[in-house]
This record gives sequence, C-alpha cells and structure tokens, in this order.
Amino acid sequence: MGLGGFGHIPVLVEEVMTFLRCESGRTYVDATMGGGGHASEILKRTAPDGVVVGVEWDEEALSEARNRLMPFGDRVKIFRENYIQLPDLVGAESVDGMLLDLGLSSIQLEKAERGFSFRGEGPLDMRMDQRMNCTAADLINRLSSEELEEILSRDGEERWAKRIARAIVHERERDPVRTTQTLRKIVYRAIPRRFHTRRIDPATRTFQAFRIRLNEELDNLGKILETGWKVLKRGGRICIISFHSLEDRMVKETFRRLEKEGELRILTRKPVVPSEEEQRRNPRSRSAKLRCAERV
Ligand SMILES: C[S@@+](CC[C@H](N)C(=O)[O-])C[C@H]1O[C@@H](n2cnc3c(N)ncnc32)[C@H](O)[C@@H]1O
Repeated sequence: MGLGGFGHIPVLVEEVMTFLRCESGRTYVDATMGGGGHASEILKRTAPDGVVVGVEWDEEALSEARNRLMPFGDRVKIFRENYIQLPDLVGAESVDGMLLDLGLSSIQLEKAERGFSFRGEGPLDMRMDQRMNCTAADLINRLSSEELEEILSRDGEERWAKRIARAIVHERERDPVRTTQTLRKIVYRAIPRRFHTRRIDPATRTFQAFRIRLNEELDNLGKILETGWKVLKRGGRICIISFHSLEDRMVKETFRRLEKEGELRILTRKPVVPSEEEQRRNPRSRSAKLRCAERV
C-alpha cells in the first residue's frame, strides 16, 4: 500500500551541481544514489562523456535508478553495496567529486510495507538493504528495556526514552509489537498528553531512532567520513546533505578536523539550506543541510 506520495524529489540540486563543478570528461560518485535524481542531473551536465559511479543498497531504489539512468548507457556504473565499501570499489584519488545525500528516499518512505512511516500501517521492517537478517521488529521485541532506552535517547534524542522503552516492554509481554501503528500507539500513550505537539508527531523520534540504529546509519557515516574523501583526486570535492542534527554535527566536526590536518578545505563555513521556494515546493527539503569541502 502506498501513502499517496509523488516520488522522490532531489534536494538542493543547483547548489550541489555548482559545488561539484560538473564538467564533461570527469568522474563523480553518487554514494547514496536512491532512484537516481542527483545522478541523472550530474550525467546531463557532464555529457557527452562524464561518468557516474552510483552506490545504493536498496533493491527497490536501485531498480528505479536503473530505469531512469538507462539512457546514459555505460556512462553509469552501479554497485549494490554499502557505501562504506567505496574506497575498495573505486580506489584512491580516482574521482573528481562525490555526493552523499543521507537519510531516506521517498521511494522507501511512501511504501507502507517497508515500515519506515508511522503514517501508514505496515510491518516494523525498516531495513534499507533487504538482504539484512534483522528487522526493526526484531530489535523492538528482543532488546532489554535499557537497550531500547539507549537507542531512543542516542539515535532519536528522545527525552521520553525511558517511558517509551518501558511501555514497549510492557506491551510485548502480552503480544509482540509487530506493526507501525502498534508502535505509534505505544509512543502516544507513553508521552504525556501535554507534550504532544502538532508540529512534530510524537512518534517521529522513536521511528527515527530504530531506523538509524537498525541500518547503522551513524556508524556508516562515521566510517565514510574517515575514509571516503581519499577517493577524491586533489582538488576534488565532497558534498554531504544531512537531515538531522546528529548527522550534521558529525559532518561539521570531521570536516573541521580534516581541515586542521591539512587534508580538506571547507567551502561552506555555514551549512547551505534550501531556499524558501524549494521548501515550499518540497517540504521534505526543510531539514536539509549541505556541507562541502575540497581535497587539498
Ligand atoms: C535521500 S536518498 C538519496 C536520493 C537521491 N540523491 C536522489 O536524488 O534520488 C538516500 C539513499 O541512500 C541510501 N543509503 C543510505 N545509507 C546507505 C549506505 N550505507 N549504503 C548505500 N546506500 C545507502 C538509501 O537506501 C537511500 O536510497
């Protein structure tokens, strides 16, 4: 069952293209290719012979990307991999630019059966890579109250982590927590009514926390931040779009350290955010922050 969305609209496209200085004859990596929105823009602007190496681990997103990028023929090379494998896939000092557009694509969010959204009814799956053995339901039904609380506070920055963790454990003693709506109801009951706001759904942080932990999003980001820039040629650029403060902080701090160590030069002292016009056109872009750096 879909949730009535309109497909994935890539964010900050013009800004990313400007930072990447797309030109024919160059090679770019799209490490989170999704359905290929940014990748197709890069390919258009690097005609006739620019190359995009795309990495994506979600089979559904990949099949959309393959269809969309078919017209570009062998100018696209696609790998179904975790982006942390990138240095092994392309080798050191081999590309002119690299993009990481973190988080979920609408292809994932809008399909209720993937379990990412608290708006639809679906199984608590939340795997971005369908080859993974463990689902969000496995975490939710197997971990101790303390472990659940740690996930909720670290990866969701949820102030009601203890209450929600206890409520989950209480509920699953009767019946395993299997669906998105069951989890949403547990969170609604656990957070005191007066702290429910209209602006942000009370279940937002809980869903974010389990998704991030299950897919090891922060660990993966940490790893690619340490090694990913090495695939850039000198003068090559890395652009990272993040969607929440945990990620943005990691990007900011690592860029600063690498700048001090003489490896990178930061091109965005402050993160670049979407224009008001883009935010109106694409509400998902509202929390996006772009940071860019150049290999020295
Ligand atoms: C925001 S979407 C990218 C959308 C894309 N830029 C576009 O314009 O169509 C993020 C994508 O990154 C993928 N992803 C997240 N972490 C990944 C990882 N560690 N390895 C490979 N792909 C990953 C997700 O599956 C998702 O499809």
